[in-house]
Amino acid sequence: MILPKKFAKSSKIPPKGFKTANEFFEYVFNDKKMIWMGQNTNHLHEKNEIMDAMVSCLQSKEYCKYPPPEGFPELKRLILQDLNLESFDVLITAGGTESLYLCISNILKPDDNIITCDPGYLIIDDFAGRFSNEVISVPIYSSENDYKLTPDLVKEHMNENTKIIVLIDPLNPLGSSYTEEEMKEFAKIATENNIYLLHDITYRDFAQNHFLAAKYAPNHSITIYSFSKVFGMAGMRIGSIIGTSKIINSVRTVLINDLGTNVISQVGAISALKSKKDWIENVTTTTRNNQKIIKEAIDEIKGVFIPVYPSSSNMLAIDLQGTGIDPKDMAKHLLEKKIFTRQGAYTSKRFGDNYLRVSFSIPEYQVEIFVDEFKKAVEFLRE
Ligand SMILES: Cc1ncc(COP(=O)(O)O)c(C=O)c1O
Repeated sequence: MILPKKFAKSSKIPPKGFKTANEFFEYVFNDKKMIWMGQNTNHLHEKNEIMDAMVSCLQSKEYCKYPPPEGFPELKRLILQDLNLESFDVLITAGGTESLYLCISNILKPDDNIITCDPGYLIIDDFAGRFSNEVISVPIYSSENDYKLTPDLVKEHMNENTKIIVLIDPLNPLGSSYTEEEMKEFAKIATENNIYLLHDITYRDFAQNHFLAAKYAPNHSITIYSFSKVFGMAGMRIGSIIGTSKIINSVRTVLINDLGTNVISQVGAISALKSKKDWIENVTTTTRNNQKIIKEAIDEIKGVFIPVYPSSSNMLAIDLQGTGIDPKDMAKHLLEKKIFTRQGAYTSKRFGDNYLRVSFSIPEYQVEIFVDEFKKAVEFLRE
């Protein structure tokens, strides 16, 4: 399935009642009572060393200086250590989003195509549409392929112009992820065809098991890393790109942020990686427990199911088709109850009417409020 070159990102469509997506966003952002289940961000970090490091950086006025343009060497080293990819090269960016843009713009040539999946993270399709001839968006919302882009689906859809296979792993919005066997198959496809696996591991730390493409196809993988989710630093806008020196040297030729990434964010990221062992278990245990609470509630509701359970991420999709409820109406209804979720159209061109996406790295009492309101909402909207 080929999408037109310049197709609009569905997330930019404002929800009903708002003139622009930005206006909607300002509304939810400014409501301090809003339960934040619409962005897969992580609200489980208490006041801790990450915040302390950033505050002390602020107080020292270090922010008056520019940082080293490619990132503090200590941060670069810690990221590679975190992934056990010490022999690779790394660039610090203002988030996974910038990382994706730089890689896509650097690799794709006008005649190339790129393979993505639907549902998926649509900004990738948007970026790819700006630099390539075709975005081959493979429909994956089916139990036949375990709700993920499988190696077989890739083989079926790729052709001689395919240059990149995008693997979002775990997948936003469904939470599906890959086995080691599948990753080895992808590695084989990439190596044999001399193409790239763009491995977006934004949600990696929520997964029980995770396998890096870079381990199996080091010369044909680019890893996209973010501090927004498990590290709880979305608003700080920081991430990175990891690849072989050859790949990273090529990305260096298209850098935009020549004067470096936010100093305070980098200091926070260094502290986050150094202290990870102290908080990671608390974050993942609470997130998994919250997921269980949602699952138990969903199992009691007729016509509703979770396509991928357990999700390997801190979000999941709730399929509403059996209720006849439009996910947009559900999201709007929950918003009125001060619960921010996302209708399927935010992450799918084709299956947007099927599901609601909810994320749950939030305090347990808020999840309890959600399940209660969700049950009532299904009964109310069904009528
Ligand atoms: C799959 C995926 N990649 C990248 C990002 C963006 O990450 P960042 O906040 O680091 O730009 C997101 C954000 O939701 C995402 O879901």
